[in-house]
Amino acid sequence: MSETLRPRRSCLAVPGSNPRFLEKAKGLPADQVFLDLEDACAPLVKPEARKNIVAALNEGGWGDKIRVVRVNDWTTHWTYRDVVEVVEGAGANLDCIMLPKVQSADQVVALDILLTQIEKTVGHEVGKIGIEAQIENAQGLIAVDAIAKASPRVETIIFGPADFMASINMKSLVVGEQPPGYDVGDAYHHILMSILMAARANNKQAIDGPYLQIRDADGFRRVASRSAALGFDGKWVLHPDQVGIANEVYAPNQDDYDHAELILDAYEWSTSEAGGKKGSAMLGDEMIDEASRKMALVISAKGRAAGMQRTSTFEPPQS
Ligand code: GLV
Ligand code: MG
Repeated sequence: MSETLRPRRSCLAVPGSNPRFLEKAKGLPADQVFLDLEDACAPLVKPEARKNIVAALNEGGWGDKIRVVRVNDWTTHWTYRDVVEVVEGAGANLDCIMLPKVQSADQVVALDILLTQIEKTVGHEVGKIGIEAQIENAQGLIAVDAIAKASPRVETIIFGPADFMASINMKSLVVGEQPPGYDVGDAYHHILMSILMAARANNKQAIDGPYLQIRDADGFRRVASRSAALGFDGKWVLHPDQVGIANEVYAPNQDDYDHAELILDAYEWSTSEAGGKKGSAMLGDEMIDEASRKMALVISAKGRAAGMQRTSTFEPPQS
């Protein structure tokens, strides 16, 4: 399984039924690609899409992108074939299986068991393939903590807004935007926070779902900035134009990244012998302590994972 801190700022959806899109995705600067066998593939083309996906993974050319395949959910009759064909055919070139519409911890356990059997049969290390769990209905949200805990393979918890809106009868057709008539706050706050809490409590990544108005770059930035502000690690992207925006929005800005690195240096120096073994320190006019260090660690880890370079250095105060 890939490390939890591998960046997933942009997670690009690619329909498995379209070899041209599969080829094009290789060249886009998304942190993750997910090759879709579920809702982007019509039922009649799913068998052919499995073959396209296995071929595209085995051909390579994905750089250091996280390679994920979304299978169909367990209430369909396609899931086991999706998993068996893709993991037997391309398990060596695959990082995770994404399971949509997860309703209970058992559904994650079932996928874990199937993956273990395939890994043993094919001769891969057991546990190599991770799981990404999509929360897309009321049952899934109520069970989200158990879902996050259900297997060590789980790497991400993902919000699926379109299916979720349908599942709770929300009176809107515009995915990601506020439902008309609800004018007292963010209608998604509880859902996003529940997913984020389950992710953080279990050391998983929290990923926001798609924004379907693909020509509205400002709208995408506005909606992405909300979940990024709460602490989400990334968001789905459906169009090449959304990739760069997600990479920017889910990484710290340069000032915050520099500030975080300075806090870490100042705290390390102040708590050292040379700095007087103090439990708190001053960074300019700002008082910093162990809690500030923890906050700085989060920003610094995201910045380092995104390959950012600091533009300032810490100078210990002269006494
Ligand atoms: C994604 O799968 C969604 O339903 O929004
Ligand atoms: Mg969905």
